[in-house]
Amino acid sequence: MNKKIILTGDRPTGKLHLGHYVGSLKNRVKLQEEENTKMYIMIADQQALTDNAENPQKIIDSVIEVALDYLAVGIDPKKTTIFLQSQVPQLAELTVYYMNLVTLARVQRNPTVKQELKSKDFGESIPTGFLTYPISQAADITAFKATHVPVGEDQKPMLEQTREIVRDFNRIYKKEVLVEPEIVLPPKNMGRLIGIDGSGKMSKSLNNGIYLSDSKEKVKEKIMKMYTDPNHIKVSDPGKVEGNVVFTYLDIFDKNKEELEELKKQYQKGGLGDVKLKLRLNEIMQEILEPIRNKRKELEKDKDKVYEILKKGSEEARKIAGQTLKEVKTAMGINYFDN
Ligand code: TRP
Repeated sequence: MNKKIILTGDRPTGKLHLGHYVGSLKNRVKLQEEENTKMYIMIADQQALTDNAENPQKIIDSVIEVALDYLAVGIDPKKTTIFLQSQVPQLAELTVYYMNLVTLARVQRNPTVKQELKSKDFGESIPTGFLTYPISQAADITAFKATHVPVGEDQKPMLEQTREIVRDFNRIYKKEVLVEPEIVLPPKNMGRLIGIDGSGKMSKSLNNGIYLSDSKEKVKEKIMKMYTDPNHIKVSDPGKVEGNVVFTYLDIFDKNKEELEELKKQYQKGGLGDVKLKLRLNEIMQEILEPIRNKRKELEKDKDKVYEILKKGSEEARKIAGQTLKEVKTAMGINYFDN
């Protein structure tokens, strides 16, 4: 059987939250156990800098936070290579060659980039590096000859762009050097966990997240503030289950589905209070978050060790990316000094 090579990554712009956990981290922990599989997880600090040029400290500080979150949820550096994008210069070199294969019109058409440009309010001052980050992302993926890339729906355009580059490269240079990756989307309803206020997906900018590093008290406080049904005022009032964040979370995290169905019926009929439901959810969430939080606290005591893991991972990543870069330059005929 052919080896499955998985590459995925995150922009380090803050600590990771429950949305990251259900949408990707949990799955990564599972994937690293699969046979015939090698996984690379990249902290995309270079990409994060494309729209944070004026605020590099935020990115630098977030690198260690994201690494702590990875290790705390159980990503095992013995099985998975965790590395830092900025420490693998081969990726930047590949990007330069790929840029020649992509028109400006093509990068301007990328729907995710378009969306981000709108929300970031760059106006006429779009950083070139930001507009072209999908090309650099193609370099991240192809450098490891990744066959599978587990990411969210919003990353579809990046994978399309990558596949186009692979096809063009292999056609122009008449060699099957690069590998076309497949996108692996999260299971339905798991992709975008709603935030505690119900206003949209969990995100730092909306300030509606439960963080993996949040204390026990903080988690409880946030759950007790969760959006439910604004018309469910008295316990005896009938309540709505749809759009009720507590039920959305219980649907995901509560293993006792039979009891949950009973609770839903009761809630809809009237006679079940929000507080009772929230306390149930709190218990379930604490059970999931406590081991993560404890492990994270332990790891925080020795950050040098965490940086050492990133350093080792980056060394490994440089080797693999260097090999691909060599093949790329040879296919292109720019390997002037070989023999
Ligand atoms: N663009 C991704 C994000 O916003 C991060 C990323 C960078 C990435 N390079 C990647 C993801 C390569 C998968 C593969 O989260």
